[in-house]
Amino acid sequence: MWMQCVLRNLLRHGCSILMFFSTQDGNVRPRCTRVQPLSPFSKVKGLPFNRYSWLTTHNSFAKLGEKSATGSVVLAPTNQQDSVSSQLDNGVRGLMLDMYDFENDIWLCHSFGGKCFNYTAFQPAINVLKEIRFFLEKNPTEIITIFIEDYVTSPKGLTNVFNASGLTKYWFPAAQMPSDGRDWPTVDSMVRQNHRLVVFTSKSSKQATEGIAYEWKYLVENQYGTDGMKSGLCPNRAESAAMNTTSRSLVLMNYFPDTPDVTQACKHNSDALINMVNTCHDVAGKRWPNFIAVDFYKRSNGGGAPAAVDMANGQLACGCSTIAACRPNTTFGACKLPEAGAAPTPTSAIKSSGSISGHPGQLGWLFGSGLIAITLCF
Ligand SMILES: *[C@@H]1O[C@H](CO)[C@@H](O)[C@H](O)[C@H]1NC(C)=O
Ligand SMILES: *[C@@H]1O[C@H](CO)[C@@H](O)[C@H](O)[C@H]1NC(C)=O
Ligand SMILES: *[C@@H]1O[C@H](CO)[C@@H](O)[C@H](O)[C@H]1NC(C)=O
Ligand SMILES: *[C@@H]1O[C@H](CO)[C@@H](O)[C@H](O)[C@H]1NC(C)=O
Repeated sequence: MWMQCVLRNLLRHGCSILMFFSTQDGNVRPRCTRVQPLSPFSKVKGLPFNRYSWLTTHNSFAKLGEKSATGSVVLAPTNQQDSVSSQLDNGVRGLMLDMYDFENDIWLCHSFGGKCFNYTAFQPAINVLKEIRFFLEKNPTEIITIFIEDYVTSPKGLTNVFNASGLTKYWFPAAQMPSDGRDWPTVDSMVRQNHRLVVFTSKSSKQATEGIAYEWKYLVENQYGTDGMKSGLCPNRAESAAMNTTSRSLVLMNYFPDTPDVTQACKHNSDALINMVNTCHDVAGKRWPNFIAVDFYKRSNGGGAPAAVDMANGQLACGCSTIAACRPNTTFGACKLPEAGAAPTPTSAIKSSGSISGHPGQLGWLFGSGLIAITLCF
């Protein structure tokens, strides 16, 4: 059965196959894995921006196997498997980008001691910003959020690189962001005004000097890294107000370890991720995360990060367990019952046992939608 799945997806969608081998029993176990969330607008359109959830990639630029644009080998850790363009095509709408002054330009980089080196530098930021511009041009109703981990000290360094990339015309003005816990403008109005790029910086001074919104004025965020993965807890990161601070309209949830791990990502992005979404919801004053940030977003043993985002969207947009259960134009909480042929729930679509033959309706839905890849997890 899984071979059929592999072939169908290769033929139809050119999905990637990753080879990993179980160390426990020596068997290779394939999984059909979702890589795309449903469009949150597919069921409920026109809500405020903060009533949707967005799949977010941690260190979106740090691609596995990438050579540095300096020509050097990259010795820094990598967090994702595909390019930013490919991520956007798969429904990723939140990007976490580390920006540094380097080589008389702004680069996407990791650092040692706050400095970028040839062997930690990925590429000039403008390349990726142009990929983002291209996507916004081609997709006139989509909205993208960028979280800059900001090490840039050159005057107007960020302003210049965003301007040079042609993204300024999509800029959502910081002055129009609610900083008192009110709703954001609706996604419709953001689209109408072409304010489809939301940018946050980690440096508070940039709001006054360059008009770039200081992230933690507008959102709460839990601890990143391994300390943020303790089951049952969802502490805020140091820069953020407490998770239940409702004067911040947006909630960002991180779920990835200190050291990115492509193999463990299967496990992290599965049940543990869903559990943490529930935990953070409770801690954040019954608020579902608007951004769910992970490493290796394509990897899971089934529904993965896309299913976690569908869950948050279902809850945010219509009070249902997944966006797939929302009925168009009905009252909040009027949900479809689960049924064969409906969208998968995180645990039911593809059993973690690897048995995928018992759910023909759901598989049909998955294949038809083209949302899946084959992953070998163990
Ligand atoms: C770093 O890369 C640049 C090319 O971008 C090169 O000119 C320079 O010599 C390299 N520096 C080192 C220390 O290798
Ligand atoms: C922005 O870029 C355009 C060309 O891309 C240039 O003409 C303009 O001077 C730039 N503006 C600023 C403020 O740098
Ligand atoms: C918010 O969470 C803190 C713990 O972080 C708790 O002490 C406080 O009572 C909570 N406030 C509200 C309004 O729930
Ligand atoms: C839902 O309502 C919108 C306008 O309010 C309408 O355009 C759309 O056709 C309706 N959809 C369904 C499924 O009734």
